[in-house]
Amino acid sequence: MIPREFIHQLLARIDIVDVIQARVPLRKAGREYQALCPFHNEKTPSFTVSPQKQFYHCFGCGAHGSAVGFLMQYEHLEYPEAIEVLATQVGMEVPHEGRGRPAGPDPRPWLDLLDRVAAYYRERLADPGPGAGRARAYLRQRGVSEAVAETYALGFAPDAWDRLLRDLGGEEETRRRLIETGLLVERPGTLYDRFRDRILFPIHDRRGRVVGFGGRVLGEAKPKYLNSPETPVFHKGRELYGLHQALNRRGSLTELLVVEGYMDVIALAGQGITQAVATLGTAMTPEHLRRMLRYTPRLVFCFDGDRAGRAAAWKALETALPEARDGREFHFLFLPEGEDPDSLVRREGGDGFRRRMQEARPLSEFLFDHLAGEADLESLDGKAAFAGRLRPLLERLPQGVLKEMLVARLARITGLAPGRLGVGGDRPRAVRRPPARERMTLMRRAIALLLQYPHLAAEVRGADPGWRHATGEGVVILADLLELLAREPEMTTAGLVEHWREDPRRYRILARLAACDLEGAGEAPGREWRDVLEGLAREARETELASLLQRSSGPSGLTPEERERFGELLGTRKGL
Ligand code: UTP
Ligand code: MN
Repeated sequence: MIPREFIHQLLARIDIVDVIQARVPLRKAGREYQALCPFHNEKTPSFTVSPQKQFYHCFGCGAHGSAVGFLMQYEHLEYPEAIEVLATQVGMEVPHEGRGRPAGPDPRPWLDLLDRVAAYYRERLADPGPGAGRARAYLRQRGVSEAVAETYALGFAPDAWDRLLRDLGGEEETRRRLIETGLLVERPGTLYDRFRDRILFPIHDRRGRVVGFGGRVLGEAKPKYLNSPETPVFHKGRELYGLHQALNRRGSLTELLVVEGYMDVIALAGQGITQAVATLGTAMTPEHLRRMLRYTPRLVFCFDGDRAGRAAAWKALETALPEARDGREFHFLFLPEGEDPDSLVRREGGDGFRRRMQEARPLSEFLFDHLAGEADLESLDGKAAFAGRLRPLLERLPQGVLKEMLVARLARITGLAPGRLGVGGDRPRAVRRPPARERMTLMRRAIALLLQYPHLAAEVRGADPGWRHATGEGVVILADLLELLAREPEMTTAGLVEHWREDPRRYRILARLAACDLEGAGEAPGREWRDVLEGLAREARETELASLLQRSSGPSGLTPEERERFGELLGTRKGL
């Protein structure tokens, strides 16, 4: 649960135009901006962004929403993630209300502790004495400068079974947390430090909070690396080693380089290649991929030149296919057999490695070459097998230029017409379905007007208050909106809609009405507003009157109060 107050402040700080412009090229058109809709295939722009409403709307496919909604739809983010991305952009910290957090328990006690542990292990690396001396010598021998060790907050776990336990585990509560984060291992009858005589690599989340550790032995012992276990704050399928550092360099990030090992990230950084990240000993997940794509559309995947590296690369390609939208670039860099980025960058230097990165193969090339290598393209059978292998992969590509080009290329190779390949390349991305026209009751029109012109709230006092007697769900919504605007008069369309995000039904109604076309109301919204309120009041009176009239002729007649009200209503009616 993110406090609404915070959402209000956040929406007041960001500009939807910046948020969308960073992802979709916008063109100014009058007071609004336009673009080809990123959510369906089209040739002429029907996607519009209103800076005033802080709302986007596509007249073609009906997509609409605030900056938050845009990020959710475009980057496939969950609501809290979208808020997080926006907040980081304007340097705000997202507060969380303890109540009903979907992620379970409050992570702060763990994060605080992990932070302390990271600092503790860093201090151990600086300790006098032979243990830390050996650790420092090891890092020196691997070419890790003090500056880089500092940037990545490297540490050292001394060669003992209970250093951490003794130094930090004094309190019951802390001890329990150390066990929960996997830093202490509990076995029947014993409790000991997980990391012993290892160089420690703290794993930071994107915001720089330590969520886990990797630890490497100083020599050849096995296992070479140990990692923290999965915990409520540490998920290997989500975190990327070095992402925090890569994002916190000065200058803009133009690409991310994805490597396999902690030491690769460290060695590359030592040679000025600071945009490297590593998965944590697991294959790249779709979540990893989407996380990186939030920050840059260009990714270079780097693999060893051996069989294992090639297999890992192919797996990465399969994961990347569904995300290969136009505007994104995925490249594959294969290193010579027996080399990893660490060994190579140290031998060839940063510039040498950068040259290799420039020669990385685009996804399309890797895809074709890999499959072509397995098939005999000279024979008909071979071509058929090739097409059979490629087709399901092409199916996974989103519609766009890349897909069209690949289908064309497959057509050339097989000699079949693109339409005969069965790739479904010619279907539009989404059926062009114009949004259903709102059935515009007076009440909906009133809500839509208020949403789209929030300043009208101030004019409600002069208007006929009879609308409050209207029946149905709408009157509650209208009253709520007016109440909110009385408290927060500066709120935009987007702010009003987002306010009800956690009430899905209400949110849907509001979002649709915020996006609907009010035909002409834009010229004189004030007049329209008064007319609509008056109309609502009239409707409410008519309805009440009709029901009183019906009951007056019923068996029990009207109560004295009802009779009075009846007279009142008739009076106003005559007055009209
Ligand atoms: P590598 O063995 O390629 O690591 O494993 P590396 O970075 O080249 O190691 P150095 O250069 O010998 O220090 C790649 C990654 O796989 C995970 C780690 O995340 C490592 O960085 N791994 C490897 C483990 O988790 N456990 C292991 O025993 C080995
Ligand atoms: Mn290595």
